[in-house]
Amino acid sequence: MTTKAPTNNRWSSNFSFVIAATAAAVGLGNIWKFPYIVGQNGGGAFVLVYLLFIFLIGVPVLMAEVLMGRRGRASPGYAVRKLAKESQVHSSWQITGWLGMFAGFMILSFYAVIAGWSLSYMVKAARGTFVGINEAGISKLFGSMVSSSSELMLYTTLIIVGTVVVVGKGFKSGLERSVTFLVPLLLVLLIIIAIYAAKIGDFDAAVSFLFKPDFGSLTKQGILLALGQSFFTLSLASGVMIIYGAYVPKETSIITTSIWIGIADTVAAVVAGLAIFPIVFGYGLQPAEGPGLIFQTLPIAFSAMPATSLVATIFFLMLSLAAFTSAIAMIEASVAFVEDKFNATRWTAAIVSGFTLWLVGLGTIYSFSGANWAKIDWVIFGEQLPTIFDAINHIASNILLPLGGLLAAIFTGWVMKKKFTQEELNTSPLAYFVWQVCVRYLAPVAIIAIFLQLLGFI
Ligand code: TRP
Repeated sequence: MTTKAPTNNRWSSNFSFVIAATAAAVGLGNIWKFPYIVGQNGGGAFVLVYLLFIFLIGVPVLMAEVLMGRRGRASPGYAVRKLAKESQVHSSWQITGWLGMFAGFMILSFYAVIAGWSLSYMVKAARGTFVGINEAGISKLFGSMVSSSSELMLYTTLIIVGTVVVVGKGFKSGLERSVTFLVPLLLVLLIIIAIYAAKIGDFDAAVSFLFKPDFGSLTKQGILLALGQSFFTLSLASGVMIIYGAYVPKETSIITTSIWIGIADTVAAVVAGLAIFPIVFGYGLQPAEGPGLIFQTLPIAFSAMPATSLVATIFFLMLSLAAFTSAIAMIEASVAFVEDKFNATRWTAAIVSGFTLWLVGLGTIYSFSGANWAKIDWVIFGEQLPTIFDAINHIASNILLPLGGLLAAIFTGWVMKKKFTQEELNTSPLAYFVWQVCVRYLAPVAIIAIFLQLLGFI
């Protein structure tokens, strides 16, 4: 087994690192999930708690992961193994890296399917399907999409092939170049939709919903959900930020770039909220619709607007782009691993990862289409998990992500020699101290709280 660095790739500039990490961070989590969980958890107070988690826990853990990647300079598992050796601690700490890679892969296996929904909606929108559609029509449309394994398979395959091509083309000409072009495009589309939404919908209602805290509506579950979301949205504990860290040049400030990534991700989530809620309120729809908010609620509003097909096409193009750039990042961690372990070329590594991903993704596709083999009926920590998709989603998002975050915080906060983390962060004593308090105390306590809640203790 080799432990050489997978590549000698380096980001061309701090800016391109921030863009690539933002591409990974901004995705379905910002545009699909953030608005609906804000909607379900009462708005402003939830947003406030979420912001605290992002900057006090998420961003410090992000710094921890980038630091591990840069010092380890290899794919996540091997990187952490090197660091454990360097700090003379037991090699089983490498699990921190492996677990992240595994979680990232599992997430991508269903993420690619939901990205496929978005692509399918974009095509439907362009064909004029949403013109004049009513509630019954849209729920039938959504139902027939998710139950059609051939439709899901087609769009999921397109997404996966797209990521394989981008990542396979190479680090600079594939990955770096495509995100530098796609992320600005994504942000421009998002802003266009937000401006349009503000004009056509009820902007004031949206602003007061998002920013006026009503602490009465915040529940204990809401707080824990905000914490889980802060990990998911920053793409933590999924191997990605470690491998992206491995490409960060020595002179780059990890502290500054990580703060920018946190800001960019947050801005994207808030703008997504400002793009969606004015429409929801302006058209008398319900903010607390849940996961169907974007795929089932929003199209009803689109159908009532002028230029239905154009607006809907732009919206789902934007959503597909957001999901696609995140999927690229997720596959990069496995590709770097296959390169590392088997000394494979980038193309081979990309194809092998893509194909494996496609196979695992079938579990999600057939869970939605209701195939018998995908029905498992597991119960984990009292949580009913009827299908393979439910199991993968629950285990990866609610167990592996927080666990990976906990390990990364403990590993960099307590296990690695202080000298090494100081060297990597290379910052003022005060900033280092603040970071340490976050990864040593705040993050572990908060994450353990999630687990206690999952186990039903709080
Ligand atoms: N951050 C992504 C989003 O908000 C989701 C995600 C979680 C992710 N882990 C990842 C994306 C790893 C890329 C890589 O949608």
